[in-house]
Amino acid sequence: MFLNKYGFTTLIFTLIISSTFAQGFKFAALSDSRGDFNGVNDPVVTALITHMMVTNPDIKFLVVTGDLVNGHDDDPARTKRELLHWKEVMAPLYNNPNMVWPKIWPVIGNHEVRNPKDIDNFKEVFPDVFMNGPAGQKGVSYSFDFENSHFCMINSDHWYYGDPNDSTDDRRDWHYIKDLDWVEEDFKAARGRGVEHIFTFSHEMPFPIGGHLRDGLPNLGKNLTLPMDSTRLWYLEQRNKYWALMKKYNADAHICGHEHTYGREEVEGVYQVLTGSSGAPLYNFNPTPETDADTTIRFELPYEKATTYYKVLDYNYGPGKNSQRSENFVGYKAFNYTVFDVRKDSVIVKMYGSFPKEGSRSEMGTKIKLLDEFVMKKK
Ligand SMILES: [Fe+2]
Repeated sequence: MFLNKYGFTTLIFTLIISSTFAQGFKFAALSDSRGDFNGVNDPVVTALITHMMVTNPDIKFLVVTGDLVNGHDDDPARTKRELLHWKEVMAPLYNNPNMVWPKIWPVIGNHEVRNPKDIDNFKEVFPDVFMNGPAGQKGVSYSFDFENSHFCMINSDHWYYGDPNDSTDDRRDWHYIKDLDWVEEDFKAARGRGVEHIFTFSHEMPFPIGGHLRDGLPNLGKNLTLPMDSTRLWYLEQRNKYWALMKKYNADAHICGHEHTYGREEVEGVYQVLTGSSGAPLYNFNPTPETDADTTIRFELPYEKATTYYKVLDYNYGPGKNSQRSENFVGYKAFNYTVFDVRKDSVIVKMYGSFPKEGSRSEMGTKIKLLDEFVMKKK
């Protein structure tokens, strides 16, 4: 089943596409395309979507998990101009007749909520979404079914009046899922309709993999010490409650960005696929004992400073460990997009990427090619 923009089930359309999708369907995801060309890294994201259309011409839609543009704290009109420019850059997809309405599903990132007016501007630039989200989040959190799958887009980034005179205020209440009740009702209703797959999307990641160890959905903030204060405990608990819902309703994967690299891992039976950077400066992974963090990158921590975070997050850290949540973590420091080939009992996931030019974090240095492939099987 597919819902049109007015929320009606379109039977005829469904009958037509059902035969087309008898073997399944494909969607793609990418994230963090911001850069220096009117707020967008035009060359990198253009190369990725061009490759996508040639290599995977049967993709039905793309999900973009935030930080489309740089944005600006004091100039929401500039942020809006950048978003409009982003849509121009993505015109080849919007004009692609093989894709279905609205062709690109947007999710907000922290760079799209740098000013209180940004949310309204985002809704104006991207009006073609479902308005079935929770109160206060309509137009930025929403969900829909496509064929045998449910898609739940969750806004994880909220504008906040940080105190400019307080150097310890790192605005860490930007990042969390406000509406867990809505998420649970949404999952429950989807399972009631008999969907075979549930995919969720937000900008922030439940399990940081590098560069943003201190924020994301755990939202642990700067200078973490033990025992944790009540605020940090609350944020971590929100993340835990969210992941418990993913497990309870047997969701397939949470797809996200925010960290500018690619990494996938299975956490307690549910996948996190972080498909960060389609243009934003590339980050390192969480440092291991053998490597040092690039401390020129904001939030990237050397191993000694990261260990308290690893401990609280229950990461696989220590000599010979990968400093990630799961031992099965696979990551590539590359510009990338990811394709999900959805079948009845499994999803074949392929990541296509390009490694950076030597000495650069914002330019491609190698041809885009298949870098990672794995299968998510339904349990
Ligand atoms: Fe971000």
